[in-house]
Amino acid sequence: MSLNNFAPFIEAAMNPSPTVLSIGLIFLVVFPIVLHFLYSFITPSNNLPPSVLLIGPQTSGKTTLVTLFSNPSTPSKTHTSSTPSSTELSISDNDDKKFLLIDTPGHPKLRARSVLAPLSSPDSKITIPGHDHNEKSPLKAVIFLVDSAALADSDTLPQTAEYLYDVLLALQNRFHSRKGARAPSSMPVLIAANKMDLFTALPPTLVKSILEAELGRIRTARSKGLLDSGVGQDDDLTEERDDSWLGGDGSEKFKFEQMMEFDVEVEVIGGNVIGDGPGVDKWWKWVGERV
Ligand code: GTP
Ligand code: MG
Repeated sequence: MSLNNFAPFIEAAMNPSPTVLSIGLIFLVVFPIVLHFLYSFITPSNNLPPSVLLIGPQTSGKTTLVTLFSNPSTPSKTHTSSTPSSTELSISDNDDKKFLLIDTPGHPKLRARSVLAPLSSPDSKITIPGHDHNEKSPLKAVIFLVDSAALADSDTLPQTAEYLYDVLLALQNRFHSRKGARAPSSMPVLIAANKMDLFTALPPTLVKSILEAELGRIRTARSKGLLDSGVGQDDDLTEERDDSWLGGDGSEKFKFEQMMEFDVEVEVIGGNVIGDGPGVDKWWKWVGERV
């Protein structure tokens, strides 16, 4: 076969007819659009509203808070939670904003899977209890509920702070686990100092400082634990500060502001779910600004 046999084909290819040209153009324009719709159809994650994770130690008042948010008129009944559950709520601003509030069990044995695993997810998408596993919701904020009246107790404080430490550490490691240049979206954390109706309740400023001091103590204890176990004995202390060191290096005292370095903004606000006191308005407003 000589080159001459191909000449007509080459000629045709170089001078496409207007019909071929327009079909090609339509294909170029329409194909990506069809593909886009097909993709959003297959991934139903876009259909779920954003979510807020409600966490905190046992009996801090999580389930009572959900009951109040979802039905302000009925008196709250509660029981120890054993599984996470989600409630759809809406905040009416200028427009109605829907979000899912996820209640979690505070028991130490039950929270690893329902809290720490979703918090470590770098894309901030979480599976919602009661929904299909491939349906995911964008996690917008975390509420860590604290019993301010019991916080001064000798076992409540370390238990609360240990849990908070693990939560903040999961968020810090999530920041580090980012792939490529895209950092995970920032994660606001509200430390809701609950039970302000009780006269033994510590004021929010004290809740903040007492937690910071305890987190600092845990931080030192954990890094010392590493030293004692002989991990990296030849290195100096700064190199010791690895995955379990909360907050930036070089700081002796732990402060919540140190979490800003990892795009984690922590705020402490007082309130109460039952009884007389400041109530939950400030918490509700905080959520409304973040979903
Ligand atoms: P777990 O499910 O075990 O993790 O606990 P939880 O955080 O869901 O606690 P829950 O909502 O069950 O509340 C525990 C107790 O605290 C209940 O007896 C509530 O009535 C009480 N409680 C919750 N909020 C307040 C509050 O603002 N003030 C007072 N005084 N009691 C509260
Ligand atoms: Mg509960």
